[in-house]
Amino acid sequence: MCDDRECCACFGPYSRFACGFCIGLAIVAAVAVIAVLVAGYGHAAQPRFEVEDASLSRFELATSSPSTALSYNLTLTLAVRNPNWAMAAAFRSLEVDYLFDGQRFDRVAVVTGDGYPLPARKTAVFRVSSGADGAPVMLGSAGVKAFRRQSDSGVFDVEAALSGQVKYQLHSSWCRLEARCPLKLNLAGKDGGAVVFQKTKCEVLRSSQGGC
Ligand SMILES: *[C@@H]1O[C@H](CO)[C@@H](O)[C@H](O)[C@H]1NC(C)=O
Repeated sequence: MCDDRECCACFGPYSRFACGFCIGLAIVAAVAVIAVLVAGYGHAAQPRFEVEDASLSRFELATSSPSTALSYNLTLTLAVRNPNWAMAAAFRSLEVDYLFDGQRFDRVAVVTGDGYPLPARKTAVFRVSSGADGAPVMLGSAGVKAFRRQSDSGVFDVEAALSGQVKYQLHSSWCRLEARCPLKLNLAGKDGGAVVFQKTKCEVLRSSQGGC
């Protein structure tokens, strides 16, 4: 049998142990919560870009020495993914520059106006249609030669260069974003066959900004 005094005596050290155990557990839990928050909200992973589809229905070069100009119609389906599992991202701007032989011939806005919010783990798909009649492009003789060669083969190397500004949830600064998508574009309607576009992942350039 255990009278009051005995119970207190055997309960005392146990209670201290339980108390210490609880405090220890609370510290471990707090550290775990902080680690999760830091992992989820501390470092932001940059968005991923992929060109899912592209169609080129016109691509013509006009040369009237010394200037060159391109007439084109191009539609892209661009997928933008926020790979962060906790942090939403907001785009203030997103633009695509089109380059042939390293020279820009157009710039098209993908995100305009009030910006575009992209929740964590979500993908947004944009259809970007553009065209121009005689957009000036600074092609030298090497560029003109490359155009003629690619025109004969029916496949053009066009680079889509993405640039924009993004801010991540709980972060205060806008991060500049740059990505390059090297596209192989078949000129549609030349031989009437269906033109298959190979999905192209874009290379996201590393940011030199702190915290981005
Ligand atoms: C091609 O681009 C031109 C020039 O911007 C535009 O006027 C025309 O509507 C476009 N054609 C198609 C089929 O989108």
